[in-house]
Amino acid sequence: MSSPRTVLDAALYWDTYYADVFRFGQGTEHILALLGRTPPVHTWSDLGSGSESLLWSIALNARRLTSVDTDPDRLATLTAFARTGRPRGIHTVALALCGRDADAFPQHCRCLTSTLVADCLTPERLPLRVLSADLLTQFGLLGLCRNTGHFTDAFTRLHAHLPEHGWAAGANWVPADSTGRVHLTHGAYQHAARQANLHLLQLDRLPSTDPDFPHIWTYLARRIPR
Ligand SMILES: C[S@@+](CC[C@H](N)C(=O)[O-])C[C@H]1O[C@@H](n2cnc3c(N)ncnc32)[C@H](O)[C@@H]1O
Repeated sequence: MSSPRTVLDAALYWDTYYADVFRFGQGTEHILALLGRTPPVHTWSDLGSGSESLLWSIALNARRLTSVDTDPDRLATLTAFARTGRPRGIHTVALALCGRDADAFPQHCRCLTSTLVADCLTPERLPLRVLSADLLTQFGLLGLCRNTGHFTDAFTRLHAHLPEHGWAAGANWVPADSTGRVHLTHGAYQHAARQANLHLLQLDRLPSTDPDFPHIWTYLARRIPR
C-alpha cells in the first residue's frame, strides 16, 4: 500500500523541526506533557518514527525502543544521533520541561535498541514483537491516511496486539492544505479507539502557530482489559 509523501525530506525535516530551537506553540510541549502521564514501560515501539523518537523519549521512562519507518535515511540519522548522546537545543529544552537532569540525555539514547524499515500502514507486515509493545506511539503517521476508513482500519490493526493495560499515544499535525489526507475529527478518533478496543484517556485538538500545520491532534489511550 503506498502512503502519501511526508512534506519535507529527511534532512530538512530533522533540521527544521528538531534542531536547536524549541518551537513553543506548535504542540511539542503539549505532547511531552501528555507522554509524561504514562508509567515506566519495558518496551516501546514508535511507528513512523522518522529521526525523532529521542525527543519523545525524554518524557518517557522506557527501557527498549524500536523505531520503525519506511525511510532508511531517517532511521540512519536517528541511530547516528543516538550514538553521539549529545542533545540538540530542542532536546535540552525538553529535558528541562520534563524535569530531567541536563546530562540525562545519553541515558535516553540508550533506550533505542533497534530500528526497522517497514510500512506501518500495512500493519500485517510488522513483526508481532513490534505491535505487542507496552507502549505504541505514532507522531505524524496516521495523519497520512487517505480518508477516515483508511485511518480507522490502520489505527485498529496497529493496536490489535497491544497487551492488556498497554498504552497508546500519538499526535497528528493537520496541514493547511489537507488534500488527499484524512479529515480528522473527535468522532473519527473515538470511533477508531472503540474499534481498537482502546479507552481514550485524553484527546485534544490544539491550535498551532505553524502556518503550514495550523492544528494538531493529540491522544492518550489504554487497552481496555477484556
Ligand atoms: C510527519 S513525519 C513524522 C516523523 C516523526 N514521527 C515526528 O515525530 O516528527 C512522518 C513520518 O512517517 C514516515 N512514514 C510515512 N509513511 C510511512 C509508512 N507507511 N510506514 C512507516 N513510516 C512512514 C515518514 O518517513 C516520516 O518519518
